[in-house]
Parts: sequence; C-alpha cells; structure tokens
Amino acid sequence: MPDACNRHWRSLLWYRSLRPETFIPENERHVTQITITRTATPGQLPADETLAFGKVFSDHMFLMNYEEGKGWHNPRIEPYGPFSLDPATCVLPYGQAIFDGLKAFRGVAGQIRLFRVGDHARRLNKSGHYLCIPEIDPAIVEESIRTLVQVDQRWVPSLPGTSLYIRPTVIATETFLGVHPSHSYLYYVIVGPVGAYYKEGMNPVSILASDQYVRAVKGGLGAAKTAGNYAASLFGAEEAQKAGYTQVLWLDGVEHKYLDEVGTMNIMLKIGDEVITPPLNGAILAGITRDSVLTLLRDWGLRVSERPIAIDDVLAAARAGTLEMWGTGTAAVISPVGELGYKGERYIINGGRTGALTQKLYDTIVGIQYGTAPDPHGWASLLGG
Ligand code: COI
Repeated sequence: MPDACNRHWRSLLWYRSLRPETFIPENERHVTQITITRTATPGQLPADETLAFGKVFSDHMFLMNYEEGKGWHNPRIEPYGPFSLDPATCVLPYGQAIFDGLKAFRGVAGQIRLFRVGDHARRLNKSGHYLCIPEIDPAIVEESIRTLVQVDQRWVPSLPGTSLYIRPTVIATETFLGVHPSHSYLYYVIVGPVGAYYKEGMNPVSILASDQYVRAVKGGLGAAKTAGNYAASLFGAEEAQKAGYTQVLWLDGVEHKYLDEVGTMNIMLKIGDEVITPPLNGAILAGITRDSVLTLLRDWGLRVSERPIAIDDVLAAARAGTLEMWGTGTAAVISPVGELGYKGERYIINGGRTGALTQKLYDTIVGIQYGTAPDPHGWASLLGG
C-alpha cells in the first residue's frame, strides 16, 4: 500500500493492529439490507447471436455510498440509468477509480453459475489499497453481485460463448480540485449480456511488442485494476492497430526488455516443456484467469515458471518454432497469439494456429464455467446456492 494513503488507511491500520481479524473499522462497517426498486419499463432482451462485448446493459444497477465516519451505507438496487455528478467531482480529473470484471454463465441445466466471485470481490479491495479507497467487506461485494444478478437473471444469455458480464466499480465522489484522496465514494455494479471480447473469438490474434510505449511500471498502479492503466494503454494500442495488429504486447517500463501484459490480459507462453508467465512484480495485474490457468497447469503436472521473460528469448523461440503463446483474461478467457511483431519484423507463432495446450486450457475453463467439466477447485457457484 502506498505511504501516501490518507487517514482512512492510517485509521484502518491502527484499527487492524487492535482487531487483526478485520480491516474495516466498526463505525464504518454499517451496511443495511439492500433496498430494491424495480424498473417499470423492463428492456427487451437482445438475441444471443447478436451479442458483442459491453454494449448492452440490464434493467437494474446496484449502488452504495461511502462517507468518512459513516462508512459504506445505503445499499440499493435501482433501475439502470445515468447518475449525475458535480463537474468538480474529483474522479473526473484525477482518476481515483477502481473496477473489476467477472461473469455469470447459463449452465447446461439452465442454472446460473458465477465464476470465482469471491476472488473478484477480494481483488476489488486489493485494487482499492493502491488508490487509498476504503475497503468494502468482500462478503458485501459478493452479496451486491448475487442480488443484482438474481434481480436481472433473465439477462443471462444461453448461447455457448455468451455470458453476463458483471462490472463492479468504485469512484471517488468528493467535489474539490486539490489533489488528495476523496472522503466520499460511490460503489456501483452494472451487468450486461456479452459475446466474444475480440472479433477473432478463439482464433489467433496478432500482437505488436512495443519498444516505445509502456502501460505500467513497478511502484506504480500496474497491479491495480484502475482507470489510469487502461487510459495509458490507449495510444499504444491505436498505434498497433494502425500497423495492422490486434493488440500491444507490453514490455516492462524500465528496460523495455521483459514481457509485462498483452492488451488488457496477462501473457503466457510455452517454450519446449516449460510454461512461463511474468511474476506478479507490482506492475502486473493478478489475473483471476491467470491464476485459474496456472492452477490447472500445475494440476496437470506441467512445469510452470512465474519468472521474467526477455523479448529476445521469445523471438528466439518463435524463430526456432518452439513457441506457443496466449493471453488470459476474464473477458476473452484465453486468446491465442498467432503473430508477433517487433522492431519492424513479423514472427509467425505456432504456424499461426491455436496451440494444443491453449485449446485445452480454453476448453477446460469454459467447461467449468458452463458446468460441462468437473470443477475440482470449486470455482463456480450457483446463484442462490
Ligand atoms: C478482462 O480481460 O477481463 C479485462 O480486463 C478486459 C476489460 C478491461 C474489458
């Protein structure tokens, strides 16, 4: 947690030293029952076949406010719609905002399955630590998500490859122009049915390793799911797209030598019999799909290393034809890489085809999500279950 955190966190740390079982001061833990106001004008469901990513939203949203001294309060579900913010609201210029992203699936028997909801709730708080945002009890985050999905359950699509994307967000809401952590916040959750994240779906994408732009540096906010990291990725991503690539392969922010992330996903590769992914060094997001993949690979007895990987070693493996490479993230699940560009050269990976391990990982995770494969780690949980 950065030293510069405000008195919320100083008081939380003081409180934690007295009450090690919790991070949340008693006077700020007060949350009453969720009030539900249903829409009078339910929306029309889109056909599952037409779903893209993140364009359609359900009938309702969850909201809860925070004020210093009062804590998180007024949890409610209301009809989905715009909320108004004072133009001086501090999140607008200074970006004190965090979010997460997770999915609910329509299982084969019609039941609704949430994937690793508790892990996402905990990660939201981890992101909050980096931005001095007061913790929300993960049980309340989970309850907010479960209740909203319950209310909007007709929006969970059924077609294979579709799901309900769930977007919890916290924004700083105090109105001021000086730079300091806000004393008030809004936590909200929206949901909407989605199809594939990349138009390529599970077909291999082409990526450009950037020796010019970086998304994050150690000591910065790279490990947090926060607005600024995504803003930092936009210019480089546009340049990559102009050059004919789908996404950027980000290199480390200091030497521009070691792999960091790809697009908005974690990056993984297999060279020979070793699967490698960059370590969680403070600049890289602790992806939940990253963790699912590493867990499965270890279950399967593969050699897995979380270690720095130099771009030169990746290029050497691409030239030698021993490289398989993929991205991992909640939105796309697994995204195979078929082509890599670097310093004006283009390298074809695995013959431009989806590798066998990449496909097996995708099939296994998707199987767990929809309930067609065993779930030995208990990652999926039924709505209402
Ligand atoms: C994810 O893969 O879940 C992401 O973070 C993508 C999201 C920013 C749309």
